[in-house]
Amino acid sequence: MNNKRDIKSCRADFPLIANSVVHNKPLCYLDSAATAQKPQPVIDCINELHTSLNANVHRGIHFLSEETTARYETTRKKIANFIGANSEREIIFTAGATASLNTAAHSLCQMMLQKGDNIVVSTMEHHSNIVPWQLACARYGAELRAIPINNDGSLGNYENLIDNHTKVVAITQASNVLGTRPELKPLVKAAHSVGAVVVVDGCQGVVHKKQNLKELDADFYAFSGHKIYAPTGIGVLYGKEELLEKMPPFLGGGDMISSVSLTKGSTWAELPLKFEAGTSNYIGAIGLGTAIDYVEEFDLEEVDAYEKALYDDFTAKLTSRVEGVTIYGTTAQKSPVCSFNVEGVSSYDLAAIVDKLGVAVRSGQLCAEPTMDRFGVRTMCRASWAMYNNTADNDQAITAIERAVGMLRR
Ligand code: ALA
Repeated sequence: MNNKRDIKSCRADFPLIANSVVHNKPLCYLDSAATAQKPQPVIDCINELHTSLNANVHRGIHFLSEETTARYETTRKKIANFIGANSEREIIFTAGATASLNTAAHSLCQMMLQKGDNIVVSTMEHHSNIVPWQLACARYGAELRAIPINNDGSLGNYENLIDNHTKVVAITQASNVLGTRPELKPLVKAAHSVGAVVVVDGCQGVVHKKQNLKELDADFYAFSGHKIYAPTGIGVLYGKEELLEKMPPFLGGGDMISSVSLTKGSTWAELPLKFEAGTSNYIGAIGLGTAIDYVEEFDLEEVDAYEKALYDDFTAKLTSRVEGVTIYGTTAQKSPVCSFNVEGVSSYDLAAIVDKLGVAVRSGQLCAEPTMDRFGVRTMCRASWAMYNNTADNDQAITAIERAVGMLRR
């Protein structure tokens, strides 16, 4: 027995999940991999900050600024503890995972990428863990290599791709399309054995699993707040201190400098502020801290098992009740996303019809066109689960999908 809350008690904490009606139907929200809904404590925190504690951080000696700064910096420590970083100096607040990955790509590559080098990604990456590396490769004359994906969605062989010219290996912790959780430790080891830096996209990973970055030994780790029940517009880039110290800043502006002179040039602030130019989203950051406190009321391993059971229930019902279903990504260790197609049915049409029945699923390329290419399709439909979902959601979704497929196949 632990003193954590029962997962089933959380649904009532999410007003948008507990009370919403769309198209006169109860909302069935199966799109949490795109963005998660927010629990009442996060909503209250944002409201409280705007109502009684709002002033720019690091920029005032008045009460409101000092209080807000204290809460912002306490949150940084909280995040360092939550993901198992060595120090809060390794935690950079960004606008989201895309900004985190672009920061890492820009600064790292400016520091060390040269013509003839290569960067290794995987074929199942989200566009935000491909395009920043493509831009860097084009800028410095380097090559982008992609690790293949096996038919079940597992990571293919990378032995021949990583060599002495590999400078970065950028990999997802959990695919937003296939759910695959690649075995990262051997990949980190292979990358480090040739002196390459490892960048992990933790967007879909951090939500469902407790992290220990000291143990993972990745050099960088990126995630967004909005997928872990925090507001939008806030993200985190973790980086090992010794690398962040050496890297040049990405964005220039206020707060990231130590001094600015029109004749002598500028010098940079200490970590982590060197990478936080401009007024940061301090309200979002403090909201992220509240979301983490909320998540920690539950046992994350239990949450992960609960969501996986919802995935299993959904896929069993989908394949037994709807003909011609293909599910992409069938590895045993996967995060709770089910991307699928139904033979002869457009994913857009399917998502549009089930929406009218109250069911929110995602459709399209899912920000992962190379994954679509790998499986020979243009688009997929995707259901994804969070801690607030239940089997009644699955039943509503499956009934809606059955009905939509019946209409579309007529
Ligand atoms: N990356 C988000 C998704 O997979 C938007 O849906």
